[in-house]
Amino acid sequence: MLAKVAFLVVLAGHRAAGEPTSTTTLTVTPATLTKSTQSITIRWSNLPSPSPLDYVAVYSPPTSSDLDYLGFLFLNASVSWATGAGSLRLPRLPDLRAPYQFRLFRWPPGELSKNPRVDQDGDPLPDATHRAAVSGNVSYEGAGARPTQLHLAFADEVNQMRVLFVCGDDGRRSVRYGLAGRSEEEWKEVPAEARTYEQGQMCGYPANDSVGWRHPGFVFDGVMKGLNPGRNYSYKVGSDSGALGARPAFISHIGDISYARGNSWLWDNFFEQIEPIASNTPYHVCIGNHEYDWPLQPWKPSWAANIYNGKDGGGECGVPYSIKFRMPGNSSFPTGTGAPDTQNLYYSFDVGVVHFVYMSTETDFSHGSDQYKFIKDDLEHVNHSRTPFIVFQGHRPMYTSSNEVKDTAHREQMIQHLEPLFVKHNVTLALWGHIHRYERFCPMKNYQCLNTSSSFVYPGAPAHIVVGMAGQDYQPSWEPRHDHPDVPIFPQPERSMYRVGEFGYTKLVATRNKMTLMYIGDHDGQVHDMVEIFSQVHNNGAPDKLAGEMPQNTSLYILIAGSVMLALLLGFVAGFVVRRKRDSTRWTSVNNEES
Ligand SMILES: *[C@@H]1O[C@H](CO)[C@@H](O)[C@H](O)[C@H]1NC(C)=O
Ligand SMILES: *[C@@H]1O[C@H](CO)[C@@H](O)[C@H](O)[C@H]1NC(C)=O
Ligand SMILES: *[C@@H]1O[C@H](CO)[C@@H](O)[C@H](O)[C@H]1NC(C)=O
Ligand SMILES: *[C@@H]1O[C@H](CO)[C@@H](O)[C@H](O)[C@H]1NC(C)=O
Ligand SMILES: *[C@@H]1O[C@H](CO)[C@@H](O)[C@H](O)[C@H]1NC(C)=O
Ligand SMILES: *[C@@H]1O[C@H](CO)[C@@H](O)[C@H](O)[C@H]1NC(C)=O
Ligand SMILES: *[C@@H]1O[C@H](CO)[C@@H](O)[C@H](O)[C@H]1NC(C)=O
Ligand SMILES: *[C@@H]1O[C@H](CO)[C@@H](O)[C@H](O)[C@H]1NC(C)=O
Repeated sequence: MLAKVAFLVVLAGHRAAGEPTSTTTLTVTPATLTKSTQSITIRWSNLPSPSPLDYVAVYSPPTSSDLDYLGFLFLNASVSWATGAGSLRLPRLPDLRAPYQFRLFRWPPGELSKNPRVDQDGDPLPDATHRAAVSGNVSYEGAGARPTQLHLAFADEVNQMRVLFVCGDDGRRSVRYGLAGRSEEEWKEVPAEARTYEQGQMCGYPANDSVGWRHPGFVFDGVMKGLNPGRNYSYKVGSDSGALGARPAFISHIGDISYARGNSWLWDNFFEQIEPIASNTPYHVCIGNHEYDWPLQPWKPSWAANIYNGKDGGGECGVPYSIKFRMPGNSSFPTGTGAPDTQNLYYSFDVGVVHFVYMSTETDFSHGSDQYKFIKDDLEHVNHSRTPFIVFQGHRPMYTSSNEVKDTAHREQMIQHLEPLFVKHNVTLALWGHIHRYERFCPMKNYQCLNTSSSFVYPGAPAHIVVGMAGQDYQPSWEPRHDHPDVPIFPQPERSMYRVGEFGYTKLVATRNKMTLMYIGDHDGQVHDMVEIFSQVHNNGAPDKLAGEMPQNTSLYILIAGSVMLALLLGFVAGFVVRRKRDSTRWTSVNNEES
């Protein structure tokens, strides 16, 4: 026993020099990845004195230092680990436009990690000291030249559609598009503009550090113009193609988008995950604290000193969010650092019978601010006969019965500054994220419930719905009782009509007379809650008839049978991750838990 321990210590001392043993081998296949690669297989052999903590760490690019791994997996996930040989499968990794490399490390029993970084449970991450073997490069076909991460967004005009994609170089790229079914010779071509950002523009750790920073590549942006309503289109960038046609009208993801939080490659992973949907369906976003929040953020009124001073954005200070997406309008807010202005803050568009407005709850929304002026002016100019419904969206909620006391003053400010505009201009529905729950409130003004039915004629104030239930598995509990703060009973206030802490998404369908919102649980695909709001104006008992009444100048190619669908997708993405995890070995990607 003693002799064995001594042997291990010697071995550890030997390997600490970072010198691979001559005997241990690590091979990873396939060496070339394509989009259709299902999984990656890692094989090792001749590992002396195996320990259940031995692990393989994942790197990209191969020049990364040992501590800058993207994630790792313990070898004991293989049944044969104790023999010093085995194999493991990983799900396909995203195309980071640079090769991957894998390195096998020993973690002798009883040795404590000297890595100051911790995982989601607060346990120290491996310290990458005893390297035993290094794999060959694993590279994507095309070496970054191939367009990836296609996603669509509405542009400023109704007959336009924007497509964004990422390449590893900023060479000339274009978008070709035309009516579906027509010969490609008849298609039009528009150039795509490239944008990127640099490590020096990040505002903090880990985004600005070798741990989190990876070059984001170049984000290309092309606008397809002159699209005819009611027609199906196809488009191509490089050899990748998409279609605009009979799908949900668009997807809305209201903040806390990839949770990369400064770990750049998680953005690439996210965009690859949504691509099958977002290359066919416009994907609309607003900014959340996890894209933005950093200690020097420029708008920090005294009442927000406790919430706008964190590190929720992992040092990104809104830069990846501003460059990787391009939403309509020109809203921007200076970062106050060398970083580019924050963009995609507030904007609006009409889809069918609904006017959609997006706001930023992270930058100035108070009276007199540019954002306030935009919202006021936008709501004043809604043509209520064309779009009888208004859906307003932002990240931090105006109302919640969750015990998120940190944000109490923020909610009060939102109510004070914005709610009068909602009431005055007949906003139908206000959708919020941030709180990882689903909670539907009655239509309200200043906490006062105007109707407690789940099917009502618009009563003059919006129903508020928190739809953050697809977020990370972190939930503040419901509000404790005022009279018994010590008792773990959290009664549902009368204004809260339905609340639940399960993963899910919502779907919105609107006809000229009626808007319906459904909450669908991820676990069973069933509708668990629903609200119907009838418009005041055109509701003289007329049946719900649509197509004929649709205004001709809206972009009908995004409507389904004359109605509008909006799926809040977060839950969809979470479901996808879960499915992928089941297919192959679980591995730990380096990311920070909610704090
Ligand atoms: C592998 O070892 C770790 C650390 O000892 C342990 O937590 C984990 O459960 C083991 N996994 C398997 C599959 O045995
Ligand atoms: C692995 O990739 C790196 C970075 O791209 C490159 O410098 C190196 O030459 C590659 N190694 C091999 C064996 O191809
Ligand atoms: C990252 O930002 C933090 C906070 O501003 C700073 O302390 C640190 O030195 C920066 N790191 C690098 C590598 O620039
Ligand atoms: C568009 O495509 C969808 C499905 O591919 C089809 O159902 C629909 O009829 C098409 N519309 C037109 C106008 O061609
Ligand atoms: C945004 O700015 C561009 C260029 O200045 C301009 O062409 C465009 O019309 C503006 N869009 C909006 C919605 O103001
Ligand atoms: C409002 O929309 C209706 C229906 O599309 C249209 O007839 C009317 O001209 C619009 N009003 C204004 C002020 O644009
Ligand atoms: C809002 O609805 C009320 C009826 O409840 C109506 O009198 C008012 O004109 C509407 N306001 C707008 C801006 O449409
Ligand atoms: C709520 O709305 C329903 C349907 O519009 C209506 O019948 C009912 O009277 C309303 N209740 C209140 C309290 O206004």
